[in-house]
Amino acid sequence: MHSRIFRDRNKLSPYYIPKKLPYREEQLSILHSIYDAMMRNIENAYPRFIQIIGPTGTGKTCTTIRFGEQLVKYAEREDINLKHVYVNCKVDGTTRYVLFRNLVRKVTSKISTRSLSPEEMIQQLIEYLRLESIFALLTFDEIDYFVQMNPKEHIIYDLTRIMESSPGEPMPIIGEIFIAKSLNWHKFLDSREKSTLGIGVIEFPRYTSLQVREILSNRVEEAFNPGAVNEETLDLVSEITASPPVNGDIRVGLDLLYYAGNLAENRGSEKVLPDHVRKVYGEISPSITSEDIMSLDKDGKVILLALARSLKSSGSAYIGLRELRRSYELVCEEFSFKPAEKFEEAVQDLIYRGIIDMKSLMELGISGVALTDLERFLNSLMNRLEKEVAND
Ligand SMILES: Nc1ncnc2c1ncn2[C@@H]1O[C@H](COP(=O)(O)OP(=O)(O)OP(=O)(O)O)[C@@H](O)[C@H]1O
Ligand SMILES: [Mg+2]
Repeated sequence: MHSRIFRDRNKLSPYYIPKKLPYREEQLSILHSIYDAMMRNIENAYPRFIQIIGPTGTGKTCTTIRFGEQLVKYAEREDINLKHVYVNCKVDGTTRYVLFRNLVRKVTSKISTRSLSPEEMIQQLIEYLRLESIFALLTFDEIDYFVQMNPKEHIIYDLTRIMESSPGEPMPIIGEIFIAKSLNWHKFLDSREKSTLGIGVIEFPRYTSLQVREILSNRVEEAFNPGAVNEETLDLVSEITASPPVNGDIRVGLDLLYYAGNLAENRGSEKVLPDHVRKVYGEISPSITSEDIMSLDKDGKVILLALARSLKSSGSAYIGLRELRRSYELVCEEFSFKPAEKFEEAVQDLIYRGIIDMKSLMELGISGVALTDLERFLNSLMNRLEKEVAND
């Protein structure tokens, strides 16, 4: 259907990566300076571990994925078969076993992981790559989340000691990139892990308000019809995105543009107006973006829906764990969904993800939601979750 507002609304999706990534040229070129040289002498390359650190929505994920694409192309020109394997620890791994299994699967279906231990999986992966003359760059996104959830699993040990298994032979894993929001995750590492991980850190600073505006303005050009978003509207979205509590998280700006655009369309307006932005801003929470919701498993979505419903009916900003469980059971019944065996763990996961805010067992709420907007926010959240839960 032809839209008066949107040229291509997919260009506002959190998963779309635009051709140009303004203000991340320097980070990209640091990555290139580390890995490009290896392409010229790959047989003798030693793996390099790099950490990428920066707050939410500063382009860590999209820049790394873009870098992987560029490096693979460069390798092609040098006749090297290179794969960039990206795993997101929030999505692909609840335990070391699951994470490594998913890592292996992303490389090949030829390794049967069923009877293998996590260590053996890595070993087999290296042997497979060697046999097929494939080189690999591995990226572990949201590694901070994983080590916080599994402090005893010591995956950094497994992942950084890969050289020791076959000393002297060429190493098909040329590098590993670990992405985290800050260096705080190091407190979960032991000293051996810290030492092999090394100190190569690339920082992704928050975007300033001018930078936010330029980045969003480029996306507006791709996603909207000419003239559909005027300067005033873009100013407002940029201002909200650049200031607290959002603090430069581009994802929130993209969400605002998307929902404000939809609203304008539904109202038959030819333009997205500042008023549309204000209206949707009251309904989204800066701390819960569409991507956060999409990346939850079904247990997570159902629990969040249960929480939103009981918050709404209680009219307060917090409810107790017991009440949440009761509400959860009702929602499960309504959607004919089997309640999670590990309810508390699923709640804990939402707390680690920063979606549920827990002050005490008697006080569970939704992070970052201002009380005045709670009702509107909850209505729109419930709407979205009901659709998601019914479609899953
Ligand atoms: N410099 C940029 N130019 C264009 N778009 C950008 C830029 N930086 C970020 N974005 C967009 O903002 C969104 C968030 O970026 P990204 O997912 O890379 O952030 P992140 O740092 O990985 O955040 P988180 O820590 O929450 O995972 C993406 O949709 C991305 O396309
Ligand atoms: Mg990310």
